[in-house]
Amino acid sequence: MSHIQFKNVSKSFEIKVAGRAQTNHALNNVSFDIEQGEIVALAGPSGCGKTTALRIIMGLESATSGAVLANNRQITGCGHDRGMVFQHAELLPWKSALENVKFALSMKGVAKADLDATAMHYIDLVGLGHAKDRRPHQLSGGMKQRVGIARALAIDPDVLLMDEPFGALDSQTRETLQMEVLAIHARTPKTIIFVTHDIDEAVLLADRVVVMYGGEVKEIIPVNIARPRQDIRAIRTNPEFMNKRTMIWEALHDAAPPIVTSARKSA
Ligand SMILES: Nc1ncnc2c1ncn2[C@@H]1O[C@H](COP(=O)(O)OP(=O)(O)O)[C@@H](O)[C@H]1O
Ligand SMILES: [Mg+2]
Repeated sequence: MSHIQFKNVSKSFEIKVAGRAQTNHALNNVSFDIEQGEIVALAGPSGCGKTTALRIIMGLESATSGAVLANNRQITGCGHDRGMVFQHAELLPWKSALENVKFALSMKGVAKADLDATAMHYIDLVGLGHAKDRRPHQLSGGMKQRVGIARALAIDPDVLLMDEPFGALDSQTRETLQMEVLAIHARTPKTIIFVTHDIDEAVLLADRVVVMYGGEVKEIIPVNIARPRQDIRAIRTNPEFMNKRTMIWEALHDAAPPIVTSARKSA
């Protein structure tokens, strides 16, 4: 039994542009399975349906046709078994960084006595100990994103969904958190589905990389690097790492429309 199953999933949005009805097709007949404990990366150009796929798994959107199952049951809404790091952290503006994490933990039913220590552990993990009492408007974009990551990790869901979680971070923090995701996964092999534009990040973290284009799955590329993945140098020099980053680059490159660099007119 696969943990998450996409069965012929299509999703369209009806919108109005300048008063005219229009249909946006975000996903078109998408089918794939994600195994329990697997890390899967979704990659593809902007607008190809990656966020929509995550939001359907989270229960924030429903499919127009087809079905998405978790543990063989159709997903009909949000639940504590799934947690999401959004592309732009959505924090409670009146609560501090620490309180945002504590609030999420209390919603999950964590005992009051454990709230402070657990929340502080994850705030420290993302390097925000010094800013724990700041409210969201007093944090930079990258810091807010780190609070969102701390919150999702603290809740410790069975399925962790991450939408370009590290995109706005400096490379040092990004690498720390990538290695932390691998360490958490080694301790408790949860199912992780994340969106990234960074090919190296996809190969470093994922068991399989799903390359999407125009709302469809174009290719699924497995990454056969043994777990636990702890030694960043060993991973990056592994021939499999080199091969797969080339293969993914080619799949993305082939999928992308040609880049128009200039529109020079000949005489
Ligand atoms: N709430 C929405 N209303 C209308 N169109 C949407 C909505 N969400 C996404 N779309 C459209 O669906 C397509 C896929 O969007 P999205 O899943 O956000 O792509 P990605 O995350 O890969 O950039 C895009 O064409 C986008 O404009
Ligand atoms: Mg997106």
